[in-house]
Amino acid sequence: MRWRLLRWILFRFDPESVHRVAHRLLRLVPPWLARWRRPRPDPRLRVRCLGLDFEGPIGLAAGFDKGDLSVAALLGMGFSHLEIGTITPRPQPGNDRPRIFRIPEHRALINRMGFNNEGAAACASRLAALDPRARSGLIGVNVGKNKATPNDRALDDYLACIEALHRDADYLVVNISSPNTPGLRQLQEREALDRLLRGCVARLAALAPGKALVVKLSPDLSDEALDEAVDVAIAAGVSAISATNTTLSRAGVEGHPRAGEAGGLSGAPLTARSTEVIRRVAVRAAGRIPVIGSGGVMSAEDAWAKLRAGASLVQVYTGFIYGGPGFPSQLNAGLVKLMERDGFRSIEEAIGADLKG
Ligand SMILES: Cc1cc2nc3c(=O)[nH]c(=O)nc-3n(C[C@H](O)[C@H](O)[C@H](O)COP(=O)(O)O)c2cc1C
Repeated sequence: MRWRLLRWILFRFDPESVHRVAHRLLRLVPPWLARWRRPRPDPRLRVRCLGLDFEGPIGLAAGFDKGDLSVAALLGMGFSHLEIGTITPRPQPGNDRPRIFRIPEHRALINRMGFNNEGAAACASRLAALDPRARSGLIGVNVGKNKATPNDRALDDYLACIEALHRDADYLVVNISSPNTPGLRQLQEREALDRLLRGCVARLAALAPGKALVVKLSPDLSDEALDEAVDVAIAAGVSAISATNTTLSRAGVEGHPRAGEAGGLSGAPLTARSTEVIRRVAVRAAGRIPVIGSGGVMSAEDAWAKLRAGASLVQVYTGFIYGGPGFPSQLNAGLVKLMERDGFRSIEEAIGADLKG
């Protein structure tokens, strides 16, 4: 109730200004306090994935913390992990404002941020200087290319980010699926993808053997392109596939005055499509690598459906904007109930349950 009132007030203001103020406030939370107050998920929610121990499956998706590191407070809300980024090698301002739009009638957002960030070196030094108590969960770093870098030189950008950021990241994510960097999504095509992923895997293996490299895909790929991307990723030695990023589709928000804004749509209209993509990726991967699911998780039921469809971890962004700081705990509590209802002893037992039999 308190959050609903606060949300009502916050939603009167420009989304990006609210976001900035929220970050400032979150950064004021002392790491020891965030750690001490952090809700502990039920031990049955533990997931072993990417060679790491996650306290629960629920994480904060990329894009919320773009390197200014409100890590202590965000992890303190009960996320098992947080994905920072997307970070590019050089700082860049992103697209002109306004570039994020709420569609409350459909519990959705449209954004065309365009990888606004302060660059890999700034993010790396902030990560290195982070109070160890702030790291009450795991931290992934999601990397991309600068807008000005042509696709045939994209690999250099990803390698520069991996080099700068691998030390303090628990895992790294190659983002080639944002719709807001012109041409980026073409890197999902077979030849470009193969070259890019092999290069990134080799560099990370040389710098930090055993550290996981994940690739994040778009929900707008055709079935054939998805299958191909999974095959290429596995052959290149990638550790996991993250599905999905935002969509260019406007299905579910047609006719809304904001529907015509350029950018990626996220939230409730994306729920079903992203679960479908997770299922397809999981079937194709056939247990060889795990899937990290995101896209329209607005409730524990949505997270549960993604886990049962084959996601080992589930990330949220738009649901967090609508659900508030209590959202990760609500999801964790809801997952325990759903797990008990469906007769599973642990969350790991439920991963991919809908694919079996
Ligand atoms: C405002 C905003 C910014 C985002 N920025 C990034 C980004 O920089 N990199 C990325 O990989 N995904 C980014 N995303 C995509 C989210 O990480 C997530 O994959 C997507 O929004 C689907 O999840 P959701 O429906 O829970 O929001 C962004 C999403 C939003 C709403």
